[in-house]
Amino acid sequence: MSQIETFAVANWSPAPAAADDQRMIATLEAGKVLLLPRLSFELRSDERRFLDPRWSDRRAKNISYDPASAQIKGAIGNSADLEDLRRLLERFHLSAVGLIKNLFPAYGPQLRIARASFRPLPIAGRASSWRKDDSRLHVDAFPSRPNRGERILRVFANVNPNSVPRVWRVGEPFADLARRFLPKLPRQLPGSAALLNALHITKSPRSAYDHYMLHLHDAMKADLEYQQTAPQETVPFAAGCSWICFSDQTSHAAMSGQHLFEQTLHLPVSGLYDADSSPLRVLEKLSRRKLA
Ligand SMILES: [Fe+2]
Repeated sequence: MSQIETFAVANWSPAPAAADDQRMIATLEAGKVLLLPRLSFELRSDERRFLDPRWSDRRAKNISYDPASAQIKGAIGNSADLEDLRRLLERFHLSAVGLIKNLFPAYGPQLRIARASFRPLPIAGRASSWRKDDSRLHVDAFPSRPNRGERILRVFANVNPNSVPRVWRVGEPFADLARRFLPKLPRQLPGSAALLNALHITKSPRSAYDHYMLHLHDAMKADLEYQQTAPQETVPFAAGCSWICFSDQTSHAAMSGQHLFEQTLHLPVSGLYDADSSPLRVLEKLSRRKLA
C-alpha cells in the first residue's frame, strides 16, 4: 500500500471540505506523506535570482529563517539582496505555518514553530559519513536536542525553475520498522543520559524515547541490506508541488533535486488528534514501558 496520498489543496489558506479534513488528518497521523500537487509556492520574477547556489555561504547546507528573530543565516550577499531573500523566506514561513493551522486547526494552540529553510544547493553526491547520509532511508531524530516524544512536522515545496523533481524514497510504516529494529537496539545504560548532559553533548537529559529514536535512525542507515530490500517506493515530487509529513515517523530518503523550501513545526503528542499513532506511543506499546 502506498505511503503517499494526494490531496487537491490549491492555496496556502485553504478551507477544505470537512470530509477531506478527516482523511487528511488520518493520513498525516498514520505517518504517510500528504502530496499536494496543486499547491505551488510561487516566486515573483525578481525573486527568481535567488534560485542559485551562489547565495549560500557553503558552511551550512541551508539558508535558514529563524521566526524568533526574523533573521536569516547561511546566506551571503549585499544588504539589499539579503533583505529581499529574508522576506522571501519569511513569506514561505508564514505560508507554511498558515497552511498547517488551516488544515489541522486543533494543532494550532500547541504548535512550536521552528525554522524555515531554503536549500539552493543540489542534494550532494556524497555525504561526509553514513550517519549524515540522508539518501539512506531514515526517520528524523536529533542527537543534541532530546524532544521526549515531541513531533517533527515538516512542510516542503519544490520551487525548481527547470522542472527538476525532488526525488525521495519513502519506506515502510513506522510500526513495521519499529517492530523490525526495536529488538536489536541497545538498551539505554543507567546514568548515560546524565553523563551526556553533563558533558553538554545533549542540551537536556536524553529520554529513553530519544535514545531509541537515535538508535533507530542509525540502525536503519547502517543496514545496507535493509536499504535495498525494505518495502519502499520512489517518489518524484514535481517542481511546483508541495508535501507534508511527520519526518520523525515517515521513513524517507532524499535522493536528488535542487531548490527546496522547508518549514519545521513541533507538536507535543498530546496535541495530536490520535496520540496512539505517535512514534512515542508505538515504541511504548512495543517495549511495554514508559519512554518519556
Ligand atoms: Fe530526514
